[in-house]
Amino acid sequence: MSRRFLLGMVAVCAMASGVALLGRSRAADADTDTVDYTKVKPTELVNNTIKGKLKNPYSDTQTDIVAQGGQLLLNYGCNGCHGGGGGGGMCPPLINDTWVYGGDDDTLFRLVSLGSDELQKLGYTRIGRENVVGPMPPFGGIIKNADDLWKILAFVRSRYNGDPGYKFGAPPE
Ligand code: HEC
Repeated sequence: MSRRFLLGMVAVCAMASGVALLGRSRAADADTDTVDYTKVKPTELVNNTIKGKLKNPYSDTQTDIVAQGGQLLLNYGCNGCHGGGGGGGMCPPLINDTWVYGGDDDTLFRLVSLGSDELQKLGYTRIGRENVVGPMPPFGGIIKNADDLWKILAFVRSRYNGDPGYKFGAPPE
């Protein structure tokens, strides 16, 4: 392969990924960037967002957010089943690399909001198997707003102790 050809390919790829990036940020604007998460119930956000588009605005490196998320997890009683650090108890751990329906933000937000029965009605299936299998109750009407749930999920991510490649679900093939 000639050097000129290679350089040409690099340029084409760079252009293509630039276009893809533009497309993505525009789509995100329309869906979630304009949403005030403190003003919307988790269930409402789920019902108004296309599958795959829910994305945590927080990162698990924001220590203040993670601390708030850990407190909220206790306030909403998730610890009764999952343990205060999310490491499992009566119910599955939230911080290992077995994800029951998927480990991406979108799936986790929908699962906690709708509960596992409702999620299954929408066609989701258990792809991962934890030691404990049971229904996850719907919390979308109990958790005050989507912002609280994003903070809880940021906390859960911060405690992740599984294979780094699986933190957000199965890595792309
Ligand atoms: C009554 C017990 C119970 C409570 C309370 C509960 N959960 Fe769950 N949760 C479960 C069960 C059981 C599962 C597994 C669901 C399945 O197998 O379909 C689960 C699954 C999950 C998962 C997916 C775990 C994985 O490995 O894929 C997340 C995330 C989660 N719960 C978060 C929460 C959060 C956040 C709260 C509090 C707002 C909460 N849960 C409250 C029982 C509970």
